[in-house]
Amino acid sequence: MNEQQRKESSQIRQGTPADVKSDQDNLNRIKDKTSEDFMKYFETTYQPPSLRKAQRRRKEDVKVHYDFTIPEDLDNIGQGRKYMIRTYGCQMNEHDTEVMAGIFEEMGYESTNDTKEADIILLNTCAIRENAENKVFGEIGHLKPLKLENPNLIIGVCGCMSQEESVVNRILKKHPFIDLIFGTHNIHRLPQLVKEAMFGKEMVIDVWSKEGDIIENLPRSRKGKIKGWVNIMYGCDKFCTYCIVPYTRGKERSRLPEDIIQEVRHLAAQGYKEITLLGQNVNAYGKDLDLNYGLGDLMDELRDIDIPRIRFTTSHPRDFDDRLIEVLAKGGNMLDHIHLPVQSGNSDILKIMGRKYSREEYLELVRKIRKAMPDATLTTDIIVGFPNETAEQFEDTMSLVEEVGFEAAYTFIYSARDGTPAARMKDNISMDEKKDRLQRLNKLVNDQAAEAMKQYEGEVVEVLVEGESKKNSEVLAGYTKRNKMVNFTGPRSSIGTIVKVKINKAKTWSLDGVMVEETIEVK
Ligand code: 5AD
Ligand code: SF4
Repeated sequence: MNEQQRKESSQIRQGTPADVKSDQDNLNRIKDKTSEDFMKYFETTYQPPSLRKAQRRRKEDVKVHYDFTIPEDLDNIGQGRKYMIRTYGCQMNEHDTEVMAGIFEEMGYESTNDTKEADIILLNTCAIRENAENKVFGEIGHLKPLKLENPNLIIGVCGCMSQEESVVNRILKKHPFIDLIFGTHNIHRLPQLVKEAMFGKEMVIDVWSKEGDIIENLPRSRKGKIKGWVNIMYGCDKFCTYCIVPYTRGKERSRLPEDIIQEVRHLAAQGYKEITLLGQNVNAYGKDLDLNYGLGDLMDELRDIDIPRIRFTTSHPRDFDDRLIEVLAKGGNMLDHIHLPVQSGNSDILKIMGRKYSREEYLELVRKIRKAMPDATLTTDIIVGFPNETAEQFEDTMSLVEEVGFEAAYTFIYSARDGTPAARMKDNISMDEKKDRLQRLNKLVNDQAAEAMKQYEGEVVEVLVEGESKKNSEVLAGYTKRNKMVNFTGPRSSIGTIVKVKINKAKTWSLDGVMVEETIEVK
């Protein structure tokens, strides 16, 4: 089959890729307008693109399934074959990769990191910024010669990018050697999709624009035995105007508390020491369940489970309620670290971003958290160079970073994402200016990080030991309760345990130390 025939015979079999076009029609009229026009429109007539749809969908039941099985004719299909998954992006994607790895292994596949050895290669992609997408397209280009060498090799693209119509079309047009494209809601169909890709002649495309049900009993091949991820909810209904996630991951769907608690218990019984609860908007947990039960309630139940550390990510300031603060303040296995993306320190920019809080409201929340948890470390995400962000508005971000005293921040230059409202704004800020702002912001964050680290010199901290340091196998590495990386000398037998380490040197992003006796008082 030549490329043209292949293209023509390819078809999208299940629904269509992210159906965002119609939602965007009402936004066309603000195309290429200034931020003032945008602001006015935003305050008067703007409706978040799919929120109404999402709210309608809320009324439809999300079904929970406990009956995932691999069909008998497929559970041996991977015998003697190897899979490889390359993961881009966030922890949610990393965890999806663990699920897909689990499915492959139940089908008899073995894992490999060598593209030459692999019988199937999946790229689990991220769409959050343009450079994430460019990386994936670069990798697709690199894989082409492998496919020419070995026509039986299956190459698939999954994850957030495959939920974008433009990406699917680009692959169809420019990379017809790709065998398989499937979306974030279709992971449970992996066995069938692999079979179709193996035995069919067409490109297999399985992308649902509507979010799926919750499938509870998917297998997971977890990456480590010390730290584990647990999804507590899927999707996001916030529709920040710059963000593609609500389109690629669908509407918010929470897992039932008992299913989450059971998974955490199971991980505790297996000896895991740290759990990270995952959700794109993790503290909106429970809002869709009508159980009057939120993340605070869930954390309160998880506190009683014999697992030393429980984290959660990523939270939205708007949903950070008093109940959650009250439970976190109880300490124990609740950690002294809160990642609380602020995105900007200027209330007008926050408004155009659709963040639903002002600078003052964010600062008030920080005050509340600090009052309840005086030792907590705060970290954040920030976008610089949002369309038409003025120099003064950027200065507000700088001053907020100082005022809160963030000890780390993921900082990004705004990247226009097709189909999002902000992508329609004209922008009068040059890329050079944006880069300059990013540099200044990073310098401030680095200085604050280094300053925060200094206080640990001479102190003793508790470290969950994860393994050898990446740079030096003689040295062990792990994290404190406040998420500070510690490199230290100590016995290998301490890997997987929590030990006390005396810090002798603070760097900007890590601490150096020596493991000490149990008797020293822990800071
Ligand atoms: N451009 C730049 N950064 C973005 N983020 C999300 N969307 C964009 C975008 N279009 C950042 C936000 C978010 C983090 C995961 O990625 O800061 O919190
Ligand atoms: Fe994106 Fe987070 Fe906003 Fe949801 S809350 S739209 S994931 S930035």
